[in-house]
Amino acid sequence: MIPLETQRLILRDFVESDWPGVHQYASDREVVRYLTFGPNSEEDTKNFLQREISLQSKEPRQHFALGVTLKPQKQLIGICRISVQDIGNTIGSIGYSFTKQFWGQGYATEAVKAVVSFGFQELNLHRIFATCHPENIASTRVMQKIGMQQEGYLREHHWIKEEWRDSWLYAILEYEWIF
Ligand SMILES: CC(C)(COP(=O)(O)OP(=O)(O)OC[C@H]1O[C@@H](n2cnc3c(N)ncnc32)[C@H](O)[C@@H]1OP(=O)(O)O)[C@@H](O)C(=O)NCCC(=O)NCCS
Repeated sequence: MIPLETQRLILRDFVESDWPGVHQYASDREVVRYLTFGPNSEEDTKNFLQREISLQSKEPRQHFALGVTLKPQKQLIGICRISVQDIGNTIGSIGYSFTKQFWGQGYATEAVKAVVSFGFQELNLHRIFATCHPENIASTRVMQKIGMQQEGYLREHHWIKEEWRDSWLYAILEYEWIF
């Protein structure tokens, strides 16, 4: 159930007043370098949050973009998302981004583990996948550390920031997940 709790983090639904925390990472050129969006204007960030908040009440809910907050200060340090991509085949995808000052402390790995557990246990998914830019070493490490397997290389499947981008495809199956 949302919120999700880990040793150091709480992952919860976004509220409108989160926009400055979201904007910190979404407006940072280095953070969004490999992402489909950004760098955001303040208006982009507020629109993004409004869209995400409106999706929270959709039934059945298929999209969970969660604000990652640090215990105990409740400071927003990033986003971790899980989405049901294919209900019939119970396939989900994940994505994540963190404010730069919090990189390299294992927070993404901790948050991603929580959403993957949620995906298998609560959303009853069979397969969860993620993609990342081949040069995005940190993201690749996160997927490897949580036990995802590299399944393939997607050539020029994303038109991002005026160029075609390749991606690594990683995935994990329900019976491979150690709860
Ligand atoms: C990807 C991202 C979420 C990782 O967050 P994080 O909290 O720093 O991740 P973690 O600390 O859990 O793990 C990062 C791992 O990558 C490693 N790493 C980071 N940069 C690296 C580099 N240049 N070379 C080698 N390893 C690197 C870290 O050492 C760590 O691995 P380790 O635990 O084996 O030492 C963060 O870098 C980010 O927000 N990037 C911008 C947004 C983005 O690209 N999101 C993913 C889209 S697919």
